[in-house]
Amino acid sequence: MPVSIISKQREYGNFDTHFFSGQDEVGKDGILRISSEYRAKSQYPSFLPTWNPKHKYDHLEFHEYFDPALKADPEFPNLLGKHRPQIARKITPKFGTEINGIQLTELDDNGKDELALLVAQRGVVIFRNQNFASKGPQYVVEYGKYFGRLHIHQTSGAPEGHPELHITFRRPDHSEFERVFGDNITSVKFHTDVSYELQPPSYTFFSVLEGPDGGGDTLFSDSITAYERPSPLFQEFLGKLHVIHSSKEQADRAKQNGGIQRRDPVTHIHPLIRVHPVLKKKSIFVNSAFSRRIVELKKAESDLILKFLYELVDNSLDLQLRAKWEPGTVTIWDNRRAHHSATIDWEEPISRHAFRITPQGERPVEDLKYLNDEKYYPSEATKDI
Ligand code: SIN
Repeated sequence: MPVSIISKQREYGNFDTHFFSGQDEVGKDGILRISSEYRAKSQYPSFLPTWNPKHKYDHLEFHEYFDPALKADPEFPNLLGKHRPQIARKITPKFGTEINGIQLTELDDNGKDELALLVAQRGVVIFRNQNFASKGPQYVVEYGKYFGRLHIHQTSGAPEGHPELHITFRRPDHSEFERVFGDNITSVKFHTDVSYELQPPSYTFFSVLEGPDGGGDTLFSDSITAYERPSPLFQEFLGKLHVIHSSKEQADRAKQNGGIQRRDPVTHIHPLIRVHPVLKKKSIFVNSAFSRRIVELKKAESDLILKFLYELVDNSLDLQLRAKWEPGTVTIWDNRRAHHSATIDWEEPISRHAFRITPQGERPVEDLKYLNDEKYYPSEATKDI
C-alpha cells in the first residue's frame, strides 16, 4: 500500500485488530473469521472474533444513565471487607490499585456497586486470578450488563452469538508488526474507547486471555490529574470548548480491509472538559484517535490546543501506570477518566487475545446540571465532518 494511503489511514483511529481480507477467512455461511490455522491454535476458541456482515444496527439512542457507584457504601464492606490492607495495593498515590484475593464473579449487587465506586475513585483497578474466562462469553455479557447498557462496536470482532463483547486478537504473524510499525515509530496510541458515541463507555472490563510472556502491557494515563496541571485561566478557557469526535476513519479502514460495518459512522460533539458524575471532578476528554477539532476555534487554533492536550496526557509519565498481564488478570478502567494504549513490544509471532466488556456511561457534560439532559448540546451540525 502506498505510504500516502497508509498515512491517511493512520492519521486517526488506533491500531485496530479488525478483519483483514486475504489473511482471515470468509466461511461458507458468510461469517468472517480468523484463519482456521490460528483458530486451531487458540486456547480460548469460544472467545475468538467473528464478523457477521448481516448484523446491522440503528444509531445508538440517548438513554438515561444512573451510575451504580452512587449507590455504593464508601467503606466497601461487600467488596473489600476487613481485608483491604492485605489485598489492595496502590499503584501510584492517585491512580490505579492492584487487588489479589477477591473473586469478582462472587460479588453480589452491593459488591458490584462498590466495585464501580472503587474503579471511579482509582481510575484503573487490576484484579488477579479471576475466573471469568472459564465461565464463557454469555456469562461475561450478563455480568457486564449490571454496569450499564452494553455497547456493540461498529466494526470489531465478537464471539459468535455475543456481539456485545469486543475482541482484540493480534495474530501470530509478522503482518501484525507491519501494520503497526510500517509507517509508525511507536505502537503507543492513547485514546478513550469509542469517544465518538453519544454515550461513551464508563466501567470497562478488559482481560488478556493469551499474550506474550512478559510485555504487551496496557498503558494508562489519568486525565483528571492532567486537567489539574495547567493554570486556572487556561483551565477556564478549556472549560468553554466543545470537540467533534468521529468514527468515520475507523469505519473506512474496516471497509478497506474487507471488514464489516454494523452501524453507520457517527460524529458527536462532547465538552472538552467533562465532569465526573460520581467524583464531581473535571477531566480532559479529547484523544488523537477519535477527536477531530474544537468547534469554537479556527482550525489552526484547534490543532494547537489539541496537540498540547494530547502531549500532556500521552507523554506525562507522572500521570501514568502500566498494567501487566498474567493469566486470569482482569483490569477495569473508568473510560471517562483513564486514557489507555496497547503496547506491541514483542517480536516473535504470538497471539495476543483479549476480551472487553463495554458498558455505556452518561452523555458527557461540562456541568452536572445537564446530566441526563438529552438536549443540552446539538450534535446535528457535525454530520458532514
Ligand atoms: C485498547 O487499546 O483499546 C486495548 C488495550 C490493549 O490491547 O492493551
